[in-house]
Amino acid sequence: MNKITVVGAGHVGATAAQRLAEKELAREVVLIDVIEGVPQGKALDQWESAPIEGFDSRVIGANDYGPAAESDLVIVTAGIARKPGMSRDDLLRTNVAIVKSVSDEIKRCSPDAIVIVVSNPLDVMAWVAKEVTGFPRHRVVGMAGVLDTARYRSFLAEALDVSVEDIQAMVLGGHGDTMVPLISYTTVSGIPVTQLIDGSELDAIVERTRKGGAEIVGYLKTGSAYYAPSAAAVQMAEAIAKNKKRILPCAAWLEGEYGFEGLYLGVPCKLGAAGLVQIVEVELSRDEQAALKQSAEHVRDTMAGVDL
Ligand code: 2OP
Repeated sequence: MNKITVVGAGHVGATAAQRLAEKELAREVVLIDVIEGVPQGKALDQWESAPIEGFDSRVIGANDYGPAAESDLVIVTAGIARKPGMSRDDLLRTNVAIVKSVSDEIKRCSPDAIVIVVSNPLDVMAWVAKEVTGFPRHRVVGMAGVLDTARYRSFLAEALDVSVEDIQAMVLGGHGDTMVPLISYTTVSGIPVTQLIDGSELDAIVERTRKGGAEIVGYLKTGSAYYAPSAAAVQMAEAIAKNKKRILPCAAWLEGEYGFEGLYLGVPCKLGAAGLVQIVEVELSRDEQAALKQSAEHVRDTMAGVDL
């Protein structure tokens, strides 16, 4: 790609910019933030690491969207993060205003871009970005499932004492306590996980996954997770930049898939050069379908509190 812009130079945005540059996913990586000096300083610092790390992606920081013009891909991380005791929905009012103004800028400066939304509450922010930019659904996707699935896989790898690489799994639904880890599709090198772990241990891992974001907030106290969230956003960016057609759980705008329409929800998505290439519909158990419905209801309730 020629240019990838990351909006928000906080921990998630800055770490994402660094990962994008180190992977050379674009010739230019632009980091934007409203705070004077921060995107410039972080971008310059990252660019100065290029001779050591051996990448040629030029990292540029700015307070305005001038350098972001004609971006191929924009990753939106702008917004405030959770403090201990806050739910993702508590962030709603502030982050709606932020994501609205960011989306206006994207529409103006990069009308053909693909947008990956990371700001919380994720499923609702992806909707705000889609509405405000007016972009088609294949160009606005949300990052949550890759992160939630990575947490689930890391906990399973630890419990089973196997490589994280051998755990295949998918966490669907909204990015919140109602997310839906698909146990029936969780395998270890093709072996159904239920053959390798007992039910109560698996239940505990599912529960820990659901609260994975809060666990990190509880430790950090002054902010929320960023290493795994940035890695997840960049994995989606890589699938798009390299037209890999990876099937990853992402928040997508549903138009009847899985029986829902008119909301963003985490579902298996094929990502390629066009952005969202296909929503893959898989069979769900009755319990999984019910859990997905509950998750969708939660997303809809949050949407109802937003005045667009
Ligand atoms: C998380 O799950 C911040 O929502 C993000 O860590």
